Amino acid sequence: MNTTCRIELDGTSHEFPVVRGTEDERAIDISTLRDRTGYITLDDGYGNTGSCRSAITFIDGDRGILRYRGIPIEDLAGKSSFVEVAWLVIFGRLPTIEDRDRFSALLTEHSMLHHSMRKHFEGFPPNAHPMAILSAMINALSCHEPDVMDIEDEATLEVAAARLMSKVRTIASASYKSSIGAPLIYPRMDLKYVENFLHMMFSVPYREYEPPPEVARALNLFLVLHADHEQNCSTSTVRMVASSQANMYASCSAGVCALWGPLHGGANVAVIEMLEFIRRSGMNVHEYVDRVKNKDSRLRLMGFGHRVYKNFDPRSKILKQAADDMLESLNLSDPLLDIALKLEEIALNDPYFIERKLYPNVDFYSGIILRAVGLPLNMFTVMFAIGRMPGWIANWKELHDDPKARIYRPRQVYVGEAKHGWEPREDR
Ligand code: CMC
Repeated sequence: MNTTCRIELDGTSHEFPVVRGTEDERAIDISTLRDRTGYITLDDGYGNTGSCRSAITFIDGDRGILRYRGIPIEDLAGKSSFVEVAWLVIFGRLPTIEDRDRFSALLTEHSMLHHSMRKHFEGFPPNAHPMAILSAMINALSCHEPDVMDIEDEATLEVAAARLMSKVRTIASASYKSSIGAPLIYPRMDLKYVENFLHMMFSVPYREYEPPPEVARALNLFLVLHADHEQNCSTSTVRMVASSQANMYASCSAGVCALWGPLHGGANVAVIEMLEFIRRSGMNVHEYVDRVKNKDSRLRLMGFGHRVYKNFDPRSKILKQAADDMLESLNLSDPLLDIALKLEEIALNDPYFIERKLYPNVDFYSGIILRAVGLPLNMFTVMFAIGRMPGWIANWKELHDDPKARIYRPRQVYVGEAKHGWEPREDR
């Protein structure tokens, strides 16, 4: 097996070390390339670029493997709560009972927002998108909690992480309540993480909402499956911002913005819009797939395809089963699930999707679950953000703790105009 890689440039041979990961992934360490040769690498969309060494999450896209801190997602999905998984992702080991109790207590203790943050909510227009509110309010948190900027050890990190995860949940539900002009609901000290969120979302001053256990369980599973996913667009954004030594709240707020787009976290909304469109238009599912395959349409089958998974997305497999189970146990049916199942069947047997290795991703079935929970469509990507918070925090911490960390600063190949002079206005 190669331990070095030789590159021949302008008649000179240069050797670069080959780096190996725990699971035998191999990378050519080209960090001295430019200094030694004057060349840089060009990698559109970073498809072949490892931006860091990380010990948080392992993905094998060809075999459909996803592990947080070495533990398969299938084990965590069946056995762990979101709070336990969050601690595992952030601190690198499963929490003991004391760890979990302490972290849960911190999550409960820090669920309130500073009273003056209420005024921020009043300032947003009624139809403001909850993702815009979430990002702005996470940043605003750092104005109200300047003491969490100094994270020096595990204890201070635990408090800062608990504050962020807990308040994100309060902000998310408050942004929903303000978007519908309803009074904000205070968190309750006796409820667990997911149940407390559902309470703040769906209780009203004259009636408490008690979620059916299936609903809390399904939402918990959704959050577990979204907790981390190595160097995706939003996590790379968090690391990019963190690399300038920006604080955890500023970095995670940037992650929310990156997550918003329909090619990333916004896909869970786009999938439902697509399924709704097919349902309302009465269009045959085959016809829709044909449209997607026609490149002129510029349509994509939303919830399909992934940069890393080229076989199947293990999260999608779990969510598909969970969506089915949840609807059955609540005695509900969702016509969109039937359309999704048909779409999947057609696409998985179509050469266009087979040749390009396009399979359902995490967003294909997650929306069916969120609909059954009763969440409005514009909150779906917010739910993804709540779920991804432990991954962002863990990545922020990994970079923060790395004594060799440098500011992220990619290069470019300039393809603009060659040097030319300034022209007087009247000659232009
Ligand atoms: N529908 C139809 N064609 C597709 C799709 C799709 N969903 N995804 C990729 N392709 C085609 C694409 O047109 C290209 O075809 P060709 O080689 O003929 O030009 C080929 O497959 C490769 O696509 P790509 O754009 O180079 O792939 P990528 O790795 O850059 O993009 C992706 C990955 C997830 C952005 C893309 O598959 C996509 O747009 N999917 C739909 C949006 C979506 O579901 N996003 C959620 C991703 S998973 C969760 C998350 O990250 O948040």
